[in-house]
Amino acid sequence: MTARLHVLCVAGSPSAGSHTRALVGHIGGLLEQRGFESGLADLAVLDLPRSHPDHYWSEAPHPVGRAREFIEAVLAADALVLGTPVYHSGYSGLLKNAVDLLPSDAFAGKAVGLVSHAGGPRGSATACEQLRQVVKALEGWAVPMQVSTVSADFSPSGRGGDRALDLTGPVHARCEELADQLAAFTRAMRGRGAGAGAGSAVAGATAEVAA
Ligand SMILES: Cc1cc2nc3c(=O)[nH]c(=O)nc-3n(C[C@H](O)[C@H](O)[C@H](O)COP(=O)(O)O)c2cc1C
Repeated sequence: MTARLHVLCVAGSPSAGSHTRALVGHIGGLLEQRGFESGLADLAVLDLPRSHPDHYWSEAPHPVGRAREFIEAVLAADALVLGTPVYHSGYSGLLKNAVDLLPSDAFAGKAVGLVSHAGGPRGSATACEQLRQVVKALEGWAVPMQVSTVSADFSPSGRGGDRALDLTGPVHARCEELADQLAAFTRAMRGRGAGAGAGSAVAGATAEVAA
């Protein structure tokens, strides 16, 4: 039996109760509905070390275990979702540091979905557009659809601060389209037919990258 395709969702906010984390988790869930398994790399809790050129240029594995696990999780994924909060009209430094731990071909042959969350009332697509350049630099293939949310796109947070995307709101259709594009593109690049794995029920717990 062919193993299911794996998408790694990277949440680039340092905040507890992050909208970005909820957004990438939502996209991961939509990909599970399309037959994928999904994992989450929540940069708020991974406590990755600061990137350093000595490690980038070194042939040796990264000396810090947490960094090695993150790098290996990215390299093992068939597809990626990169999520960021909008900070000063850009993507977060936390996400940039994580990306700078990776080798320059880390996204080769992988489809990448881009999402962002902004605190302002109108949101911003700028951070996703900036991330397109980064994906290109790492030899990845960013899909055309991207999702930029604002607070009004989320249901009020429940007890424990967990946020959820408002499924009756306008961005839900964009999330579905993003998941469709990621699934189709990943299957095409992995040589899997459109039907492979499709139609399976939501299954599999989301595997957290070990902190
Ligand atoms: C340093 C900093 C810069 C920010 N810059 C912007 C900005 O340029 N535009 C905007 O709409 N919101 C801005 N915000 C607000 C964040 O986008 C907002 O807090 C958002 O909820 C963060 O997403 P999160 O809940 O996933 O952490 C900024 C926040 C911080 C901390």
